[in-house]
Parts: sequence; C-alpha cells; structure tokens
Amino acid sequence: MSQNKQEWGTRLGVILAVSGSAVGLGNFLRFPGQAAQHGGGAFMIPYFCALLLLGIPIGWAEWTMGRYGGRKGFHSAPAIMGVVGRGAVARYLGIIGVLIPLAVYFYYVFIEGWCLAYAWEYAKAIFGTPALGIDSQAAIEAQSAKSAEFFASFTGRAQDGVMLGGTIVESVVFWAIVFVLNVWFVFRGLSKGIEKFCTWAMPSMAVCALIVLGYVLTLEPDPATPERTVTAGLGYMWNPDWNALRDPGAWLAAAGQIFFSLSVGFGVIINYASYMKRKDDLVLSGLTASSTNELFEVGFGGMITLTSAFIFLGATGTAAAVATGSFGLGFTTLPVVFANMPAGQWIGMVWFFMLFLAAITSSLSMLQPAVAFVEEALGTSRAKATGLITGIALIGSLWVIWFSKDLAALATIDDWVGTFLIVVLAAVQVICFGWVFGMDRGMREAHEGAHLRIPGFIRFVIKYIAPLYLLIAIGMFCKNNLGNWIEAARANPVQRNTLILIGLVIVFLAVLTHIGTKRWRAAGLDVDGERPPQD
Ligand code: ALA
Repeated sequence: MSQNKQEWGTRLGVILAVSGSAVGLGNFLRFPGQAAQHGGGAFMIPYFCALLLLGIPIGWAEWTMGRYGGRKGFHSAPAIMGVVGRGAVARYLGIIGVLIPLAVYFYYVFIEGWCLAYAWEYAKAIFGTPALGIDSQAAIEAQSAKSAEFFASFTGRAQDGVMLGGTIVESVVFWAIVFVLNVWFVFRGLSKGIEKFCTWAMPSMAVCALIVLGYVLTLEPDPATPERTVTAGLGYMWNPDWNALRDPGAWLAAAGQIFFSLSVGFGVIINYASYMKRKDDLVLSGLTASSTNELFEVGFGGMITLTSAFIFLGATGTAAAVATGSFGLGFTTLPVVFANMPAGQWIGMVWFFMLFLAAITSSLSMLQPAVAFVEEALGTSRAKATGLITGIALIGSLWVIWFSKDLAALATIDDWVGTFLIVVLAAVQVICFGWVFGMDRGMREAHEGAHLRIPGFIRFVIKYIAPLYLLIAIGMFCKNNLGNWIEAARANPVQRNTLILIGLVIVFLAVLTHIGTKRWRAAGLDVDGERPPQD
C-alpha cells in the first residue's frame, strides 16, 4: 500500500536487525538495575520463567502475525492486528503497537545521546583530564558525589528548561547528533539503512562487550576488601534465592524486563517480520534473536555491570546505587568503578560507545514502525512519512528535554508507555493470536519454511498460560498501582501534560487508522481478515 516497496536484503540481515532492536539500553542499564533491585540472583528465576513462558512464545506469535500481515499487503501494527484479530477493535488496539515505539523513542534517543557524550568524555580523558571530573585519588564517597553531580547537571535534573534556555549543554548537542543519525538511517530505508547499519553495529558491539567483559573478569579485589572477588561478584548475580519466588513484585518486574528487552509487545517485531518472505524460517529467526539478546543481557550487561560494581562497592553499595533510579548504576556508579580501574578511561570509552551502538540499533527500530504506518495509511512516500514522524518525534523529544526536572517527563512516558502499555499490547497480541486467529492456523503459519518445530507445549503456553499471566499482571497492577499513578499525574502538571501529549499522539494515530482503513478497503485488501487463510 505504500509507494516504496521495502524488503530485507538477507536472512541474516533481518535477524541482526531484530537482535539490534532487542539489544539496547534495556540490556545494559535496565537489566542490571532490575536484578540488583530484586536481590541479584533472586531475580534470575522469575526472569528465566518470564523468558520461557512469555518472551519467546509471544515473540514467535508476533513474528508469525507480522509475516502473515505482510503477505496480506500490510506492514503496520493496526492493519496487521485488524487482519489477525478480525475487525475494528483489534485494529484500533493495534495503534498501541505504533504508539509504544514512537513514544519510547522520545526519551530513548535522549539517553542515547548521553551514551555518546560519555564515550566522548572518556575519549578526552585518555589525554589526561579526569573523566567527568572524577578524581581517582579521592575517597569513593567523594567520587560518587562528583559522578552524581556531573550526571545531574548533564541531564538538567535541577530545573525545567535549563538545557534549552540559555546555554545549550553538551547532552543537547549529542542528542541532536544522534537524532539526525537516526532519521538518516530510517530515511535510507529498511535494507540500505537499518539492516546495513545493524550488520556492522552488532558484531562491533560484541567485540566491545568482550573486551570489557574480559577485563572485568580478570580484575583483582582491593586488598582492603579481599572478599569482593570476581567469583563472589558472579555469585551475587547467579546464586538463586528460592524465597524470591514468593514476591509478586519480582514476577511483574521480570515480565516487564523481558518485554522491554526483547522488544516483544513493543510493536517492532510485527513490523520487521512483515517484510519477511513466506519461506523464511521465522521459528529459528525468533529463537536466534532472543538468544542473542540474552547473551548481551545476561552474559554481557549483567556480568559486566553487576560484577564490576560488586568488586568495587560490594553488595550493599551496588543495591544502594540502583535505589537512586534506573540509571544509577550505568551513569553514576560505573564511572566510579572506571575511575578506580587501571586504564579505566579506555574501558569507559569502549563501554559507553558500545552502549551508544546498542541504543541506536534499538531506536532505529522505534521510528521504523511509525514511518511504515504513515506510508501505508496515507499511501505516501517514505521521504514524506519520515518527515512527518521526524516532526512528531522532535516535539516529543524536545518535550522530554525541556521538562528535565527530576526527569519527570521521561519517567512518565517510561512508566505509562514503556512499562504498562507493553504488557497490555502483549496481552492483546497473544489473545488475538491464540483465540481469534486460532492456534492450529497460527502454528501452521509459523511452521511455513521452518526447519525447527515449536515444541507442542508452547501451544498451551500461548493459549492459556501467557494470557493468564498477563491478565493477572495487569489486574494486579490496576489494583496496586493504577490509583497512585493517576493521583500522581493529577498532582503533578508535568506528568499530567505529558499524558495529554501522549493522548494527542493516540488521537493522531486513530485518525490515520481511520483514513488508512478506508484506503485499504477501496484497494480491495482483506482489512478484517475475513478471507480464507489460503489466499
Ligand atoms: N529492546 C530495547 C532495549 O532493550 C528497547 O533497550
């Protein structure tokens, strides 16, 4: 339905692009923070349960729906959900699949800029100036205070408008650079832009991560704290705590982390998979992308961050650092760790550059679904669609940068869209797939071109366990948190206005869906998925 036909160049390319979307700040910043907040090893059991019961099965469902929708001529979540979920309700709920990536992009690209800026700070430090102004000879407390102070002023935490009114600070300059890079690669298109970049960026990230991991695993403990060895650090992350199974909070956090990290229930995979060919092996592709994500998340993100933080700060210090917010470990604690490592400025540079690569391969995947949706709904060119989405993303991102006091706008979007709506979209998708599209038909579709069979019990998981898990999670959230969240949004004008902004984006997407539906019908497409599956 769009004027430019997009497709993946190679099968490896699509896997790298989906892996690139999955591996991101969620792996390196969010995961270690979540794990440390929920007791290190205690978190790993609910985490792996969520991976096996939700992440991988729903991921397969999403890949399948995406490829099926692509065959019907659609590439956007609203259109594809309309076909799979057979009608207007599913189609309009599919708007969430465009909203999530677009709204998360508003703040994600800002953090991406921080990563590049920190890499730049460390590159400068190689020539002698202490990185971020942290004096490596000072006491750890003084270093931590300096690191926190740098981060707070760098992100404009003290006051709204401080980063745009008056002097333009470094984080805004780097934000502008990464924003333009994102738009450029998305404008270049699926194969020439996103796929080409990911094909280069993913192996580079792996090399960077291996360098830092190799270094961290050979660190010697400080003679003053000989018990903080690498092995003890690994134990902090890996020793399971069976009691944690009784904590519902850990189960919810684990589910949220899995979705955010795998980009499942995010609106990305459904779009990426829609460009696959009928005979492409989506079972293997889904599994490979998930495994790659887990390697980066648990193998690199967790083992590097948690182990090094443990060696320098111990279990209590690491847990205290995460209590200061999701970015506490990444942007305020690790700089202290790097300041105390031999050659820490090199390691810091490689680490933050890798974070930047991880972030940009994810943020590209956040713009792509919205651009594809505009192309398809209005039948317009990629250039015009990219222009429109760039305009909206610019407004959203500047909003986040302006309302920087306590990062309130960022946190509001992260909570409502990046945490809550992801679980809602995953529930909508799994219900449409298992109950409306039908399990038999879904599995037949998934196995087209597959060399690997999805184990039989996954049918049961997709049909019963995953929807139940998600509905209980949503129900518990509504019971325990929704009231407080609404109250907080009422009381805080920034939160309230940020939600109004999100509401306006939803209205805009709904209007596009309305226009698109008319166009798709007029073009004779199977908008409500009524035609038999063979066509
Ligand atoms: N999946 C992406 C991440 O982990 C969004 O950051």
